[in-house]
Amino acid sequence: MHSPLIIALDFHEGEQAIRFSEKLDPSLCRLKVGKELFTSSGPALVETLMKKNFEIFLDLKFHDIPNTVASACRAAAKLGVWMVNVHALGGSRMMMAAREALAGTGTKLIAVTLLTSMGSEDIREIGLEGEPAQVVKRLASLAHACQLDGVVCSAMEASMLKSQFGAAFQLVTPGIRPKGASNDDQKRIMTPREAIEAGSDYLVIGRPIREAADPNRAMEAILEELK
Ligand code: C5P
Repeated sequence: MHSPLIIALDFHEGEQAIRFSEKLDPSLCRLKVGKELFTSSGPALVETLMKKNFEIFLDLKFHDIPNTVASACRAAAKLGVWMVNVHALGGSRMMMAAREALAGTGTKLIAVTLLTSMGSEDIREIGLEGEPAQVVKRLASLAHACQLDGVVCSAMEASMLKSQFGAAFQLVTPGIRPKGASNDDQKRIMTPREAIEAGSDYLVIGRPIREAADPNRAMEAILEELK
């Protein structure tokens, strides 16, 4: 599929997510299932969405001992998800164990570097050195060295990461707002076109599509802008 759109299913319950997914054309986007929805509705929901031809990014950000994370990744691949992620803060042995567990499965593996909710103070508090941008770079470098498929990052970091790690290292970026859309609680945003031009490979978008009167039309407008 050529669409870079990943729509965030930030719903409390599976029923809401399924009802919303029925408004979406699976040839226009993939879907992101995160901690809340997976905890409430589990693998059964993921299977239902996949039966409707959606590819799923399972955004559970695994972070545990290498053996446990590897087992969780194996379970995700068995479920058949398109992409899964881990925290780079789990270290290289953990990331390599995840990589090995997914070898030959077709499930993509990416890392979260530093959560965008973490500022300089939060970093110091947990004993990490440097400013957020340096920590992001260090963790992305570690993920790249462990042969992960890419990282989740802000579009603001995309051009720096793309030039450092190359075209094959995939960048998945939230904080995207089409022109004219509300910023909601996002602070540093980019339009879909700006993000792709900066080097993003996939755009995670939630509210601008979930709240659109016609979500397919809203996605088509974005894809049109990207042509
Ligand atoms: O509604 P909105 O487009 O802001 O949703 C963005 C999605 O991306 C949400 O699921 C949010 O949790 C996720 N996300 C984010 N910023 C990050 C990491 C993830 O907005 N740094």
